[in-house]
Amino acid sequence: MRALTYFIATTLDGHIAGPDRGDPTGPDGWWPMAEDYVAHLVAHYPEALPGPARSALGITEEGTLFDTVVSGRRTYQIGLDAGLTNAYPHLSQVVFSRSLPPSTDPGVEVVDSDPVEAVRALKQRDGKGIWLVGGGDLAGALHDEIDVLVLKVSPMTLGSGVALFGESSFAPRLWSLRESVVLDSGALFLTYDRVRD
Ligand SMILES: NC(=O)c1ccc[n+]([C@@H]2O[C@H](COP(=O)([O-])OP(=O)(O)OC[C@H]3O[C@@H](n4cnc5c(N)ncnc54)[C@H](OP(=O)(O)O)[C@@H]3O)[C@@H](O)[C@H]2O)c1
Repeated sequence: MRALTYFIATTLDGHIAGPDRGDPTGPDGWWPMAEDYVAHLVAHYPEALPGPARSALGITEEGTLFDTVVSGRRTYQIGLDAGLTNAYPHLSQVVFSRSLPPSTDPGVEVVDSDPVEAVRALKQRDGKGIWLVGGGDLAGALHDEIDVLVLKVSPMTLGSGVALFGESSFAPRLWSLRESVVLDSGALFLTYDRVRD
């Protein structure tokens, strides 16, 4: 069975975006992306870069980790508002939404049913891993389905903003550290496997 990986950029205080729920890495963004951070992404997670970034950097590698990306509607909407019906055209994309119409993009499926059931069905299919891109609310709904957590920790605190698991209910889970990478810029890449009973 393939795994669901929540591969997500977070601050030291556990926020993935500001209170406006905008894109802090966009053109007017304030989320710092150091050279070594981008280089690490390109070298190890080329499939997790958006299509325009892949084109700009000349990346054509498929990557080995993910062939599917699952997204909450607000996260997907950021791309739509920028004119992109599919920010990850090199992956199959599933967008969870009870408000969007069916997608006109053949690479994007809009699903209005329970994300837990849909992800369990995705896990049964053959292929590479499934990337949960975010945002916080969808991650909260899928908390128990996440098998691997990859935190891209930026050396920054926000005070408030969108939390890693949104506004989900209190539910402690344990994780086992598999790998830690410390970059000169102070960013960390931490990979954890879910500890299941
Ligand atoms: N740091 C990072 O790496 C990263 C990555 C991704 C996103 N983000 C940030 O995260 C923010 C967006 O996150 P968000 O938490 O506001 O929204 P989100 O999780 O992206 O989307 C929430 C939406 O997903 C849909 N949904 C369907 N079933 C759901 C369920 N059971 N539970 C929850 N949502 C369900 C709903 O859409 P409908 O209302 O259409 O029904 C809901 O409004 C943005 O600021 C974005 O920039 C950061």
